[in-house]
Amino acid sequence: MTASKNTEEQQLTPQLTDIKNTITELREALNLHNHRYHVLDDPSIPDGEYDRLYHELKALEQAHPQFITETSPTQRVGAAPVSSLPTVTHVVPMLSLDNVFSEQELAKFIERLAKLIERDENIAFTAESKLDGLAISLRYENGVLVRAATRGDGVTGEDVTHNAKTIRNVPLQLRGDYPALLEVRGEVLLPKAGFAALNQQMRDEGKKEYANPRNSAAGSMRQLDASITATRPLVMYCYTIAELEGAELSQSHYEDLQQLQNWGLSISPNIQQVVGLQGCMDYYQEILDSRAALPHEIDGIVYKLDDKTLQQQAGFVARAPRWAIAHKFPAEEAISTIEAIEVQVGRTGKLTPVARLTPTMVAGVTVSNATLHNQDEIDRKDVRVGDQVIIRRAGDVIPEVLRVVPDSRTGDLAAFIMPEKCPICESVVVRDEGMSAHRCTGGIQCPAQRREYFKYFVSRKAMDIDGVGEKLIDQLLVAELLKTPADLYRLQPEMLLGLERMGEKSVQNAIESIQRSKSTTLPRFIFALGISEVGISTAEALVAHVGDLEDIRAASAEALERVPDIGHITAAKIQQYFASAVQQEIVNDLLSVGIHWPAAEKQDLEAEQPLAGKTYVITGSLALGSRDQAGSYLKKLGAKVSGSVSGKTTALIAGEAAGSKLTKAIDLGVEVLDEAEFIKLLAEYGVGI
Ligand code: IVH
Repeated sequence: MTASKNTEEQQLTPQLTDIKNTITELREALNLHNHRYHVLDDPSIPDGEYDRLYHELKALEQAHPQFITETSPTQRVGAAPVSSLPTVTHVVPMLSLDNVFSEQELAKFIERLAKLIERDENIAFTAESKLDGLAISLRYENGVLVRAATRGDGVTGEDVTHNAKTIRNVPLQLRGDYPALLEVRGEVLLPKAGFAALNQQMRDEGKKEYANPRNSAAGSMRQLDASITATRPLVMYCYTIAELEGAELSQSHYEDLQQLQNWGLSISPNIQQVVGLQGCMDYYQEILDSRAALPHEIDGIVYKLDDKTLQQQAGFVARAPRWAIAHKFPAEEAISTIEAIEVQVGRTGKLTPVARLTPTMVAGVTVSNATLHNQDEIDRKDVRVGDQVIIRRAGDVIPEVLRVVPDSRTGDLAAFIMPEKCPICESVVVRDEGMSAHRCTGGIQCPAQRREYFKYFVSRKAMDIDGVGEKLIDQLLVAELLKTPADLYRLQPEMLLGLERMGEKSVQNAIESIQRSKSTTLPRFIFALGISEVGISTAEALVAHVGDLEDIRAASAEALERVPDIGHITAAKIQQYFASAVQQEIVNDLLSVGIHWPAAEKQDLEAEQPLAGKTYVITGSLALGSRDQAGSYLKKLGAKVSGSVSGKTTALIAGEAAGSKLTKAIDLGVEVLDEAEFIKLLAEYGVGI
């Protein structure tokens, strides 16, 4: 420590010294995270955590401006580019946006803006998704793409022309009545499905996975070798015009976006014109609700003053416009600590390790548990009790542990090992050969499996016994009145009366709905047996193609495998189920209490299967619906649908933004059908879409 620094510190009160130290620590942490995020494309903390640290620093600096330094992360917009790609200077700087996180903050923004442009607060905005990718500038001279550059620090970016040319929705040549010069900005994204496939590939190749789609988009765009970028199904959506010569535009930003489309560029879906705070909030809620279903990640909404003359009047502050704002969604990722790992036993005996977490807010909800899936996932992520972890909660999906915060582990922590005995019933735990799941072998004797099974048995898709809910099942189990499913049908009113919340009306209701459920359909009954891998559509296929219960019980695994939708594993599970003495007793017992269904009608297998023996792979996004949906049409015609292209593939169905599978199919000389050809193929066999 130097003498002058000593003197300087002596002049500060202890409280101010603390604040100064906190500022220094925050600055160092943020600089480190900035470097990992922008230069290495390898962040160690979630974006929400970064935002939190950044705002803490900004607030402290605002309150104590004497501590602001030129090198503070608050004093600049982005990070400097890495050196390996040539640099590009942006004549018109690439701007950043200020953020708001609540309706109140948004209201203040609108109020301020209204004053600036001397209008009332019913301002017309263009509302767009805030796309979570990499900002890119494209330059077209005489309609030809001449340069693509990353944002970098806003003024100096990296030349990524070679990579941008591989993005399928980036036109190399503009269409229509294009201008002499156009510089357009937008975001390059890797859709969620492409991100999952890329990480699977990285895992298969023993390489490091990308933290999130944004980083994988950045990593893909900053490759030196464009043939690598070409295998990633990237998309680009444009959101602003930076330079234009040789064309006239209207005053409206919304109209600009439409014009970009006329020239062949893509703009993000769901752009809307809205008015005032309420219009903004309605749009925000609508997009937030559909967030999980969107094909790509978004992290908020951007509202832009629509009138460009008024935009000029509002002007800029630092590197952000005063006429636009980003309204961020609650972060879907957060940091928490694993306090324990417990094992839950599911209906089919599957053991699921669950992390008990220090309660943490994620996407607006306090999360205290997150799934760890199975032993393989825990090993792969090397998650241990005591670790700091990044957790994620997206849409209605069960929260999950994504990864350990790098370098956060202090001291020796024990690795998790799945118990050898069921934690509930102490039966032996086995691992299905070649599968990731561990299972309790206790079957319906295991109280955990039994409870889950009864809940499933009475559920709507199974026996549909709506008078018997979870609470009643729990009480009946405690009273030892339910051991096997047929016991439900042996319940008498006096056995239920007096149980908690079971007055005469509820008892009557329960007994009636139990009796009513005796008359069912065979697919429902098979589904209700809870054979692993047999969902309702598989049960329906069994009935349609094999016949009545007696035929299904007697069918060999080979015969079962000939049923559409039923693969090797499912066929074996069904055959094993009906071969087991314990299960036979359960089924016979249910039949003896009077469960019945109308006689089944078997279909003619061969006639229905014109594509039997053919294998298709589906990739990219299809206008007709999900790939699963498309696959089910093919399976109905007897074809197999596989996840990977090989020499045995009959044809690849390639939708929009198809990536590595398309490249592989072309390499292997496998036939490729686009969506129109696929629909034609289906039509030939009488399947109309
Ligand atoms: S407009 C003049 N619109 O967010 C305003 N930016 O946090 C310049 N972003 O650097 C940006 N979606 O990379 C705009 N619909 C959208 C956007 C968007 C994502 C990114 C962009 C920008 C960052 C600022």
